[in-house]
Amino acid sequence: MEEVRKKRILSGIQPTGIFTLGNYIGAVRNWGQLQEDYECAYFIADLHSLTVAIEPAKLRKQTLDSFALLLACGIDPNKSLIFIQSTVNTHAQLSWILSNSAMFGDLSRMTQFKDKAARHADNVNAGLFTYPVLMAADILLYQADMVPTGADQKQHLEFTRDLATRFNSRFGQTFKVPEPYIAPAGAKVMSLQEPTKKMSKSDENVNSFISILDDEAVIINKFKRAVTDSEKEVVFREGKDGINNLITIYSVITGKTIPEVEKEFEGKGYGDFKLAVGQTVADELKPIRENFKRISADKAYLEEQYKKGAEIAYSISSRTLAKAKRKVGLI
Ligand code: TRP
Repeated sequence: MEEVRKKRILSGIQPTGIFTLGNYIGAVRNWGQLQEDYECAYFIADLHSLTVAIEPAKLRKQTLDSFALLLACGIDPNKSLIFIQSTVNTHAQLSWILSNSAMFGDLSRMTQFKDKAARHADNVNAGLFTYPVLMAADILLYQADMVPTGADQKQHLEFTRDLATRFNSRFGQTFKVPEPYIAPAGAKVMSLQEPTKKMSKSDENVNSFISILDDEAVIINKFKRAVTDSEKEVVFREGKDGINNLITIYSVITGKTIPEVEKEFEGKGYGDFKLAVGQTVADELKPIRENFKRISADKAYLEEQYKKGAEIAYSISSRTLAKAKRKVGLI
């Protein structure tokens, strides 16, 4: 009997710092779970990070740390392809070819570009503008069926689909048009201090986010200080943003439904609840922290893994690149 090919999933994450609990719950934790049912490719998008002024030594360190973190979070190189974007030269090459099918008007309408251009008015570089084209190349090179992303990347994925469709209709079938992969609930973790804002590692208030490498005492303390409301009941309800966020975090990690969580804390106060959430998060992150320490200290192992990843990524993506080159008339 012919074996049915598993669907291919691909996603990337920028090495702009240590991951937060938000990155973990919203992305990397799901990535690990998807490995069982899909053929997965995950990568560190270091080329994308060049679009904001980042210190070279910092970029290098964070890229390796992020790669080690993926491994520490359970992305298994024997199950999934895991690599660093800049170690595979096909991405930049396809990006150039695709940029000639990408429309200035479409790129000008990207909300992330407009946001970043406003925030970094002194550095509105061409890379920031063509960022979505490189992202399209990342995806299309691997003929991905599905791309798990956060809400902030939805527009870029839509752009990728349009670009692939336009290219295919002009030059003939070349790329698979990818679908978004909608992550299960709880994909968005909010700030512990301002729960209407997304949890972000660039927040000035370190109590607003949990770093995936925070230790137990720090984690519990940050949850203790989490902003809630003046009521008492642990219930998920409109307007209780702080409590809703804590319930969501607890529910995702324990696998309990929201009503089950509400029931568990019936008659208990916020203090007990915060402690329970803090402990649960600390327990979940402990093995990751330990794995990270071990893996990031073993430079030879890390290098071996990212070199192996680069080789496999090249062998898959160079086939698509060769096809695209041929289609557009390059020698
Ligand atoms: N732009 C994505 C982000 O910042 C990272 C990324 C780059 C990506 N290339 C990708 C995600 C391809 C999915 C697929 O989150």
